[in-house]
Amino acid sequence: MSKTRIMTVFGTRPEAIKMIPVVHALRAQPSLDVRVCVTAQHRHMLDQVLEIGGVTPDIDLDLMRDAQSLDELGARLLAGLGPVFDAERPDRILVHGDTLTTMMASMAAYFRQIPVGHVEAGLRSGDIYHPWPEEINRRVTATIADLNFAPTQRAAQALRAENVAPASIHVTGNTVIDALLTTRDQIAAEPALAAALMPVLARFAGKRIVAVTSHRRENFGDGMAAIADAIVRIAVREDVAVVFPVHPNPQVRGPMQHALGDHPRIALIDPLDYPCFVALLDAATLVLTDSGGVQEEAPSFGKPVLVMRTTTERPEGIAAGTALLVGTDADRMVAETIKLLDDADAYAAMARAHNPFGDGHAARRISEITANAHR
Ligand code: UD1
Ligand code: UDP
Repeated sequence: MSKTRIMTVFGTRPEAIKMIPVVHALRAQPSLDVRVCVTAQHRHMLDQVLEIGGVTPDIDLDLMRDAQSLDELGARLLAGLGPVFDAERPDRILVHGDTLTTMMASMAAYFRQIPVGHVEAGLRSGDIYHPWPEEINRRVTATIADLNFAPTQRAAQALRAENVAPASIHVTGNTVIDALLTTRDQIAAEPALAAALMPVLARFAGKRIVAVTSHRRENFGDGMAAIADAIVRIAVREDVAVVFPVHPNPQVRGPMQHALGDHPRIALIDPLDYPCFVALLDAATLVLTDSGGVQEEAPSFGKPVLVMRTTTERPEGIAAGTALLVGTDADRMVAETIKLLDDADAYAAMARAHNPFGDGHAARRISEITANAHR
């Protein structure tokens, strides 16, 4: 009997972190022939993850350009992926989450009537401009997919509320927890995996580490300026050091270098590879972020997350009490950070190791459901 041809398609750092566990799990299914297509919407940050995750793409479209716009990237994705699907003729593609790669791969597959499985389906903020353009990328993908892997019950409910076919919805947990737990065990067995972070932590020995990440398009401009202002005001404290791996998007890197580039208690560093970033989360006292994935990871380490956004499609962390929406008002970001640093009760209330996003077995569930769909 011939095998079912599954093609995974992804292109950015977070998609790779969350899809590599799925690729490995799919490859353990004897009935599946698994191919990996990367769009390389990101280049260096994608390659970092692929190398450590032990995945060599079968197809690499190498699409990233410096300062790419949504429309030019979107056009290149569609024009690049269509011929790949024509040549490879997969029986199904699997996409992840909410990037332009996700939506355009789903469209290109739909144009050829190739079924689509959507990993991390059903996250909704209800606001099409927060996150922008991710909210619409997800909604379009959900209308096309016939397998929707919802990480949580809430995500499944959001899909049902949009009349997505109930039989297509499977609650699996989020594969980021698979990646995180595996990586944490790997670092414990081989601490050298996180060696590149150690000089940064040594520089700030004895200080409390505030880990920061930021990259959201809706925060470009005023939001980034407010975030930088808040960081400077937090770093006034001598007992604190800020470690900020800066996203290479020029709209982030430029303003952050300008505002924070030369400060004794702020380390602006290049994007960390995944084990080093996991080690940073472990070392941090608290996290300030507008990232999706980081909101999902930090609760596993019991680290409070201050979310620098006005809304989130991941409210499970807020409901669990481990994350707080602080918006992008500098006064609020500073006040909530100082409260966590100075008020032990407030800190303890948020610093509970508990993760509502998954149990570390999502990828296996997704691989089994995918294999069963083609029996
Ligand atoms: C993209 C996704 C976003 C996701 C984020 C994760 C879209 C529209 N946006 O945003 O949903 O949360 O990735 O990080 O899909 N760059 C490099 N090297 C890299 C990666 C990026 O130099 O390895 C620079 C390039 O100048 C590139 C720019 O960053 O043009 C923007 O990359 P892009 O993928 O368009 O947007 P992100 O802001 O990274
Ligand atoms: N991450 C990383 N190195 C870094 C910063 C983040 O490996 O220097 C990881 C982080 O652990 C998470 C993912 O990248 O799994 C989040 O990516 P990003 O914030 O770029 O995108 P989002 O999750 O918001 O889509």
